[in-house]
Amino acid sequence: MTTATVSAADLRARIAALPRRRLAFLPTPIQHCPNLSADLGVDLWVKRDDLTGPAFGGNKVRNLEWRMAEAIEAGADVLVFGVEATSNSARQTTAAANMLGLPLVLVLRGRPEAAPQGNLLCDLVLGAEVRLVDLPTYHDLDAAVRGVVEELRAQGRRPFSLNHGRMFERGAALATVENFLEIVELLAAHDRRPDHIYISSGGKGLAGLILAREAMGLPVRVVGVASTANEDPWQSAARIATETAALLGLPITVTPDDVEATWDYIGGGYGVPTPDGLEAILAFARREGLLLDPVYTGKAAAGMLDHIRAGRVAPGATVVFVHTGGQPALFAQSRAIVEHLARRDRTTKSTHEGGVA
Ligand SMILES: Cc1ncc(COP(=O)(O)O)c(C=O)c1O
Repeated sequence: MTTATVSAADLRARIAALPRRRLAFLPTPIQHCPNLSADLGVDLWVKRDDLTGPAFGGNKVRNLEWRMAEAIEAGADVLVFGVEATSNSARQTTAAANMLGLPLVLVLRGRPEAAPQGNLLCDLVLGAEVRLVDLPTYHDLDAAVRGVVEELRAQGRRPFSLNHGRMFERGAALATVENFLEIVELLAAHDRRPDHIYISSGGKGLAGLILAREAMGLPVRVVGVASTANEDPWQSAARIATETAALLGLPITVTPDDVEATWDYIGGGYGVPTPDGLEAILAFARREGLLLDPVYTGKAAAGMLDHIRAGRVAPGATVVFVHTGGQPALFAQSRAIVEHLARRDRTTKSTHEGGVA
């Protein structure tokens, strides 16, 4: 790893030089968690990037500011974006496209549903042109998106693929570089510095946090908790951080060895809820009145709680959990959540009956 030491103002000035369309409500707040802090013996904060604004918010609204600027600069008159049908990104992209007055074709991997829920329902309400494609893997979306782009071009339109833009990954990293600056500044107002930052990430968001840490030379441990094995967070965070550093004119190289990430909390796979993830959702909901989601943030919180309980975080340390959003999945996965609650009630009841509790 090579590092550079630049000030927050310098980093902000470098970001300000890049084309951008404002969409998000920034800075997002940081919320102290006094009850969970007491339970866990650390000083726990949540960075509320679920509150970025448009269409229930989430981490993608931030990165769309650069991705949309790129599409507009390219002269696009229609946007194309391919992703999973359950995607939070699809919802936020549709909201952003509407705000900028650009039509959007969503190529969504999934099957038609009689009663769409969660993000897909939001996509329909927001009015994107939804094309559901039944593809074997996530990686097959690439060709499907290229096919739609060709089709639109043949009609004389000027399509822009948001999957293939130069800012797709770099925008996501810029988003968390800026979020890192907000975390440091908002905590400073409470006389604190972050010791550990946990984020749900397959690499892109993680890259920006690592880059900002290296750029500012701050001793912060950054941990990415993956929700999918489709991406290698070590390789991608290192590559994206290095590319984004170059975009900002910073001589920083990040290698996979510099990246702390884990695949340990994915469980049965992308989008499949885990008992520990659901328990983490209940912990935040019941102790702090805060809603996480079963696909990303619940699993990331499960990882963070496990690390804290296992002693990988020193007692009293300041820990920041980046809430990246995704709560519409709570509704889409209501069955798994209700079943978990019922199982839990039964266990509690039988434990009480047995007189062990
Ligand atoms: C709620 C939520 N958290 C985390 C992520 C992961 O973001 P990335 O892998 O781009 O860092 C996503 C993206 O799909 C998301 O929707």
